[in-house]
Amino acid sequence: MNAKPPTPPDDITDRLESGFGFGKVILLGEHAVVYGQPAIAAGITTGIQAVTTKGTGRISVPAWNLETNITADTPVARAVAAIFTTLGAQKLDVTCDAQIPAGSGLGSSAALSVAITRAISNYSNAPVALQAKAIIAAESIFHDTPSGIDAAAASQGGLGVFSRATGWKPLASSRGFELCVGLTGVSRQTATIVQAVKQLCDRTPVARRVIDSLGDVTRTGFDAVAMGDIDTLGRLFDVAHGLLCALRVSSPELDAMVHMARGAGALGAKLTGAGGGGAVIALAPGHSARVLATWKQAGFQGFVTTVGGPAKA
Ligand code: PMV
Repeated sequence: MNAKPPTPPDDITDRLESGFGFGKVILLGEHAVVYGQPAIAAGITTGIQAVTTKGTGRISVPAWNLETNITADTPVARAVAAIFTTLGAQKLDVTCDAQIPAGSGLGSSAALSVAITRAISNYSNAPVALQAKAIIAAESIFHDTPSGIDAAAASQGGLGVFSRATGWKPLASSRGFELCVGLTGVSRQTATIVQAVKQLCDRTPVARRVIDSLGDVTRTGFDAVAMGDIDTLGRLFDVAHGLLCALRVSSPELDAMVHMARGAGALGAKLTGAGGGGAVIALAPGHSARVLATWKQAGFQGFVTTVGGPAKA
């Protein structure tokens, strides 16, 4: 029997509450993770902060020029409505400070879902399992059948290995490393690209083997990350980008940014997330500023984030 969601009493909703969802980068294993292979990802501190107050279901994300209400028939409105329903929330307004663009391969929808779920859960001390249910309900509206990696990274933060079978497991690394994150500025629908990969694999069985190869690349990456072997990790980024190109999920902008990063001294670079637009990551110790400057000169925004490092006590 399903437990009735806790209902926050009206007087409690007089409080202002907030919650944070991490943005995410997939280091290795996007798309293959949909087929059961492992992926290495990191929840990054560039994410989304949600604030909830007493209201009428208004949803506001100024950075995305988004103003709507949970009664509207749009993916964001339906996803937030699903969170409200799962958590038994009512009479609240939500305002989000989004530091990551929508549809950019950095897990914006999962970060939004996690941030809003956490803010609302503060009113009723919703159990973690119910929060997870709310996040999955929202992610299923955004992405049809997500592997779950975005929701896991957005909730957990830090470096981790994710697979459909085992969920998220934190991955320790002997040292942190700087990642350059570059934005093509082209937004796209993850579900459409995942569907295109499925069609390619169905019609061209040899393409299905590319998925298995991506899994092998990720498994090779476990040790490289754990030992802080960034030379190997950089080369694995390059191999992964080549395999993702074979799955036809790259784009002219992504390829250009990857080549620019390599030219500016990166050890390796690849698209991150679903592709088709969105973002790239580059590993360029000592050259991060040069990579960002090169992208900027070509009209692309970017930032540097640090992932990994010894576990905090
Ligand atoms: O583009 P994003 O941030 O939605 O990342 C999607 C990652 C995929 O592996 C392509 C899809 C998934 O559900 O895992």
